[in-house]
Parts: sequence; C-alpha cells; structure tokens
Amino acid sequence: MIEIGLGIVGCGGIASVHADAARRSGFRVVACWDSQPQRAAALASKVGATASKSLESLLAHPDVNAVAVAVPTDAHASCAQAVLAADKHLLLEKPMALTVAECDTICAAADKSRGRLQMGLVCRSSPTSQHVARLVHAGTMGPLDFIQARGVRRRGIPGLGGWFTTRSRSGGGCMIDVGVHLMDLALHLAGWPRVLRVSACAASRFGSPIAQYRSAEMWGGPPKVDGTFDVEDAAIALLRCEGGLSIEIDVAWATNIPEGVARDGLLLRGARAGIHFEIFGSEVRSVVERDGELRDEVAAVPSPFGWDAAWDAQYRCFGELVHGRGAAAATAREGRELQRILAAFYESAALGRETEVR
Ligand SMILES: NC(=O)c1ccc[n+]([C@@H]2O[C@H](COP(=O)([O-])OP(=O)(O)OC[C@H]3O[C@@H](n4cnc5c(N)ncnc54)[C@H](O)[C@@H]3O)[C@@H](O)[C@H]2O)c1
Repeated sequence: MIEIGLGIVGCGGIASVHADAARRSGFRVVACWDSQPQRAAALASKVGATASKSLESLLAHPDVNAVAVAVPTDAHASCAQAVLAADKHLLLEKPMALTVAECDTICAAADKSRGRLQMGLVCRSSPTSQHVARLVHAGTMGPLDFIQARGVRRRGIPGLGGWFTTRSRSGGGCMIDVGVHLMDLALHLAGWPRVLRVSACAASRFGSPIAQYRSAEMWGGPPKVDGTFDVEDAAIALLRCEGGLSIEIDVAWATNIPEGVARDGLLLRGARAGIHFEIFGSEVRSVVERDGELRDEVAAVPSPFGWDAAWDAQYRCFGELVHGRGAAAATAREGRELQRILAAFYESAALGRETEVR
C-alpha cells in the first residue's frame, strides 16, 4: 500500500500518540510543526521527520498529503482552515472548536476543499465501542430509553493553570474535554437522535487555588501556580432527545467518589436488553429477558481491543478516507452538532435550568 505523508501540527502530549498510531496504520510522518520549535524538533527527531518552521512551510512540504491538528482548542479553527485551504486531508482533534460559529467556518472550508475532514473522536473507533455499535444497530436492544455515560477521574485535571483550564482557550473544562467523547459515543450508538434540551450542573471545586491542588495524574505538565483555572472540574448533563431517549453524562477531572462505586463506561438500557461496557475494555456485560428469566451475560471482545487498537482503527479509517475508499469515522457535521449541544450545556449550567439546543 502507498504510504500517506502526514504532517503533525501541535507537538504536545497527544501528538506522539498520533505519530505512533499513524505509523502503525500506513502513514509516514514527514513534517511536524509547533509554535514552540523545540517541541516540533523533539517529535520530528523521534519519528524521522522534518521540523517545519511554520504552518505554511509544513503545508508546502511536497510529501505532506494529510495533516493531524492537535493544538489547543482556540487554535483549531485557524489551523483547520489553513490545512483545508491547502487542499490537504485533515484529522482534527476534538472538540471541533470553541464555538458553533467557528465550526461553521471549518465546515465551509471543508466544503470548498479537495481535502477530506475526519474528526478525532477516537472513542468511536475503539473495537469495544464498535462491537456494541453492531449489536445496537442490529436492533438487539430494541428501542433505547436511557444511556448513562460516565468518565470520572478523582484527581486528573489536565495542564492545570494552562490552556486546558482557561475558558477563553479551551471553551470549558471536563465536559468539553472528556464529556465530548462520551456525548459523541452515546449519540453515535443511538443513531444521532436530535437533542432537544439539555439540563446541566457543573462544579468548580478542586482546580483553584492552584497551589493547593494535589494531583494523582497530570496530563499536560505540572500545575502553573500563577495560571488560570476558570472552568468546571466536574459536571453532569441530561440530554433529552427526540423520540424519548435521554442521555446522562457524568464526567469529572476531579471529584470525591469512593473507589469502585461508580464504573466508567456506557450503560445502555433498551426495551429488550441492557448493556454496559468500558470504552477501551475487554468485555461487554449484558442482560436480556429470555423465557421469563433475566439472563446476565459477559461477552469477551475479540483482540485487539484497548487504547492503541482504537487509535490504530481511527488512523486506518482516516487512511481509507484519504485514499478515497471510505467515509470519515466522524464527520465535520457531527463535530458541529456536538458543539451545539456543548453550547447548550454551558448555557444551562450558567442559568441553572434546562435550555433548548439551538
Ligand atoms: N483524542 C484524545 O483522546 C485527546 C487526548 C488529549 C488531547 N486531545 C486534544 O488534542 C489537542 C492537543 O492536546 P494536548 O494534550 O496535546 O495539548 P498540549 O498542550 O500537550 O499540546 C499542544 C501543543 O500545541 C502547541 N501550540 C499551541 N498553540 C499553537 C498554535 N497556534 N500553533 C501550533 N502549535 C501550537 C503547544 O506548544 C503544544 O506543544 C486538543 O485539542 C485536545 O483536546 C485529544
């Protein structure tokens, strides 16, 4: 198979995950660019690529036909537009942008470009999620009434004091960062019903004062004590969908929950069956009524599963898109739809009441 030349824009924490998955999946990383040149140089030397001096020079590299954009959210729209204007294929990290208006500019650029766009919503590409998607889409569960999606860290605020925790750069806290994955996967499994209304509760309790935060895990570097924390660190959302389904999203970067009492993953409750799974897990638990009895079952997900397998599947799909042989794993329109729901989430949290998704 002909290798696809990939440029990586933004060489921070997630960029190496992109580079590794891309290289396992039919891509060659040929150029890297970061606004901090030493980061581009470090990634480029690790993967045998060129460290570009600017986004323009990365896009002018003769071997770059596709680009992964993994910069802070406030730079998504400008980078995405530049990549698409250069007619390169684009894998754009989640969330799509800061606002629905920015998403519109990206969608317009994608419509004009010869490059194709795939959103980086990797949880959908997890083999476990795909296994469940096949069951749900085959009608095994009957109509879905409730989906409960949970992704709760007890202490895991990313890059405290930096862009992740500065609303003007990130658009929000744990809901737009982690919750967007859960929202996307729940809606994808449910077949994208229209979300009508959102009721949101958000707390901001652990990130400030920054000096007092004790981290268990710290994605994105040590806390910047003089930085900003003006976003939510825990949140719950209830999404009411057309047709009666409701989706509850329970997400936290930091919260006090005793170990083991609340399982991460998605719980789908349908008329004929219920299913629980962890997104990168090895098994799917289900309950079904048969001959008047409730039968609980645990099915193993065929190997490979897990985080790396999901990233590889995301890149294989992107490769097929670039070769013109397949559809995006997640589309720009879906990225925009998630942004609309996130906007309603933040409006509802600020107002303290349910709001319409406009
Ligand atoms: N899919 C996932 O599971 C996942 C996980 C983590 C992060 N992400 C997403 O990836 C993106 C990056 O996150 P991260 O954790 O790598 O952040 P990071 O802060 O570790 O890295 C961001 C990099 O972008 C660089 N940068 C900042 N502004 C730039 C600009 N205008 N142009 C070029 N480079 C710029 C920074 O110097 C930094 O090296 C975000 O959109 C985030 O939401 C996705």
